[in-house]
Amino acid sequence: MKSEHKATLSFSDGSPSVEFPIYQGTVGPDVIDIRKLYGQTGKFTFDPGFMSTAACESKITYIDGDKGELLYRGYPIEQLAENCDFLETCYLLLNGELPNEAERLDFEHRVTHHTMVHEQMTRFYAGFRRDAHPMAILVGVVGALSAFYHDSTDINNPDHRFVSAIRLIAKMPTLMSMAYKYSCGEPFMYPRNELSYAANVMHMLFATPCEDYKPNPILVKALDRILILHADHEQNASTSTVRLAGSSGANPFACIAAGIATLWGPAHGGANEACLLMLNEIQEHGGIEKIGAYIDKVKDPDSPVRLMGFGHRVYKNYDPRAKLMRETCHEVLNELGLKDDPLFALAMKLEQIALEDDYFVKRKLYPNVDFYSGIVQRAMGIPVDMFTCVFALARTVGWIAQWNEMIGDKDQKIGRPRQLFTGALRRDLVPIAQR
Ligand code: CMC
Repeated sequence: MKSEHKATLSFSDGSPSVEFPIYQGTVGPDVIDIRKLYGQTGKFTFDPGFMSTAACESKITYIDGDKGELLYRGYPIEQLAENCDFLETCYLLLNGELPNEAERLDFEHRVTHHTMVHEQMTRFYAGFRRDAHPMAILVGVVGALSAFYHDSTDINNPDHRFVSAIRLIAKMPTLMSMAYKYSCGEPFMYPRNELSYAANVMHMLFATPCEDYKPNPILVKALDRILILHADHEQNASTSTVRLAGSSGANPFACIAAGIATLWGPAHGGANEACLLMLNEIQEHGGIEKIGAYIDKVKDPDSPVRLMGFGHRVYKNYDPRAKLMRETCHEVLNELGLKDDPLFALAMKLEQIALEDDYFVKRKLYPNVDFYSGIVQRAMGIPVDMFTCVFALARTVGWIAQWNEMIGDKDQKIGRPRQLFTGALRRDLVPIAQR
């Protein structure tokens, strides 16, 4: 990285000022390189929540939160959602370029032929309680992949890294569908190689051995779009977790399991589940008539209630993924004859009220992708507690692409933040009888 400009940091306590290089990306805010700050001044920076900190250099995904723009490897999310399928998007995220026809077929073939999981894994599932949350199972089984596929865990071997990436993308649908089947007591369904990636997910979730199941093409397209829209989102909490875990040299399966655990939180991937539960709650307590009372609760500074599916750390404009998901929502509800679905009507009304309300306008709180993805998934028959698993399935490719980029970065170091310590000073222990 070349630096044309410098930033000067001066101190009011008489310490000499210091200069730091400023780097320019291809687009987006410049960064001040403060890596030598501690060495030169004995001081750390303080930035909980990484509000102003770029933790890595990346070439994968770019978000312009003010414009409401999302680019994967330079391509706008709208163009990818209209013209590509999920596996082409995976190829792009992993390799930096869209595949030609031969590359697409080769990639599809590789992913398709890694979809089965070791048969012994079925016994691993049996160790979970039947009513376990599927995300709890997913964290466990993805972490356990490193025990089943130890032959691809050497992170310094590019072939191992490639096979692990293919294995993770290929096996996630199988693993998350098994989590669902286990929870409802139905037999696990093996993947079918003649189906597309998204159709296979639907087959493994909804088919049973008793009768034929033909995935509805409109719903397959909708699921494929959900996967594309969630495939990567630069340095969010789960991706940063994957990078941090990976920075210690941990194997990719363990790192992705850490990402899944982080994604589960309601402020992140758990928001689609939380959003649908919120819509259900409003519906049960009077529906559209009661939106006003709910909004009042959300705006009350003494209440912890938030409007789920609204707001984003980076987007201070309409989330471009939400626009596409809204479109898909209409398509799916039309196809299933659910145009007058009361929950959808409630969501539309809530969106309209929030977009006009001064509280939300002032804070630039717009609907995010999860506001609509829950409604689409519910209409498709995906149970609410599986929503975050679908998100994890989609985000796996982003996590691997970012992990791979980090491993290949020669400046990569183990992640080790520092702290502002405000606890007790050194003191001597008092024996228990005198405390
Ligand atoms: N409802 C009501 N008020 C909100 C909301 C919300 N959903 N989000 C933010 N605010 C308010 C917040 O109270 C604060 O107000 P004030 O300045 O008066 O204290 C202001 O807006 C700024 O909030 P913040 O917590 O500093 O913003 P953040 O950037 O740290 O939080 C967020 C981002 C996504 C965690 C938050 O907007 C939120 O909790 N949203 C609901 C959960 C959600 O939908 N998450 C999914 C994110 S998209 C999926 C993904 O990419 O993971």
